[in-house]
Amino acid sequence: MEEKKDLKVLVVGGGGREHAIVKAIKGSGRLQKLVCAPGNGGMGSDCEVEASVSADDVDAVFNYAVNNGFNFVIVGPEAPLSMGLADRLRAAGVAVYGPGKDGAVLEASKAYSKSFMKKYSIPTAQGMSFTDFSEAKKYIEEAPFDVVIKASGLAAGKGVVIPSDRAEAVAAARDMLEGGAFGKSGSEIVVEEKMLGEEASIMLMVCGNDYVMLPASQDHKRVGEGDKGPNTGGMGAYAPAAVATAQVLEDVRKNIVEPVLKGLQSEGIDYRGTLYVGIMITDAGAKVVEFNVRFGDPECQVLMPLIESDALELMYDIALGKLDTSKVKIGGGYAAVVVMCAEGYPGKYRKGMKIELPKDCDIPQNSWIVHAGTKLVDGNISVSGGRVLGLVGKDSTLSGALAKAYALAGKVDFDGAHFRRDIGHRQLAREK
Ligand code: AMP
Ligand code: GLY
Repeated sequence: MEEKKDLKVLVVGGGGREHAIVKAIKGSGRLQKLVCAPGNGGMGSDCEVEASVSADDVDAVFNYAVNNGFNFVIVGPEAPLSMGLADRLRAAGVAVYGPGKDGAVLEASKAYSKSFMKKYSIPTAQGMSFTDFSEAKKYIEEAPFDVVIKASGLAAGKGVVIPSDRAEAVAAARDMLEGGAFGKSGSEIVVEEKMLGEEASIMLMVCGNDYVMLPASQDHKRVGEGDKGPNTGGMGAYAPAAVATAQVLEDVRKNIVEPVLKGLQSEGIDYRGTLYVGIMITDAGAKVVEFNVRFGDPECQVLMPLIESDALELMYDIALGKLDTSKVKIGGGYAAVVVMCAEGYPGKYRKGMKIELPKDCDIPQNSWIVHAGTKLVDGNISVSGGRVLGLVGKDSTLSGALAKAYALAGKVDFDGAHFRRDIGHRQLAREK
């Protein structure tokens, strides 16, 4: 039977995450048209790119989608979701993968997500939210545990301070509440217990009560090898991450995922999209570090290649509220991504350098170049962002997947490029 090509799809966003989504869905038999807005400089061979529509300009995205007859929109980043893009599109009859504003608040307000977890008895660090500095200071000084300080609002992954002592903790709280650090996002803070353990990212594709749990992944946040240096958006990832053992995943399903979905229902939230649960695997079981309402970046780059069934249909079914989990096939094997960055990143970084890329025919099987901070200038692809490219490999073993990713990194170059050479180090050490 010939499949009907009925979906005109708009992917909103322009990073590596969105390019990975585009690569995963571009082969679907349901696809009639595929556009990414604003996209980036390297997506042109995979889809159409509409660079004039910014992902954060909800009016522009809405008008572009509706005026051009798109019937399915996949929203990559959190900002447009928290501004209600999905609600507006749904009200106009467009199917959307991504939660409405009521669901997106789980990421947009850490104070809300902490109170949600408390209400539904979801294991997380104990803590409190504050808008008043002197109250926060008193709590920090009297807390019977080491604390971390978090700006409540969206801060592009940079709103968390892990202080080395109480004085530093108090100073961080003061900076946020009285010093305007993180602007409005820091006008409310969460002070919570510092958890000890190993982190993993659990990505759920949620459709109301039903969900698909993708393989656990692990990000590498620090810029330097051995997890040294400042935090970044993520320097590499792999999946499945064995630290999330079958027992940990069972614990996560029973004590985190099920109560979260029940909580969403009780709050009247019809959640359709990705729920990213960042967990810390502690001696007392898995605890939630944070919720995000979209795929992780770069985690998405390693999860998309592991979806063997039609990823477009999976997201569309979720958007329509009719997920059939029996149709979903997640493949065996491993995927790894190495992120290549611009000189200076995560600080002030250089832009404009021309990128040398292999020809498509020289990219081996099960290896992919995912573009993030790239731009087309006079027909050349050049550096325009801090995280520039993701080099992805897939194989039957983690070391095989990493070997493919690093082999690809060896075929790409631009002036000042840097990347970590130890992605997957924890798991590789464990395998030995
Ligand atoms: P978040 O934005 O909440 O994910 O925090 C960013 C990073 O800060 C996390 O990935 C953790 O590495 C760290 N972090 C956040 N909260 C805690 C906590 N309560 N204890 C220890 N580390 C934390
Ligand atoms: N890689 C972490 C995140 O996307 O939040």
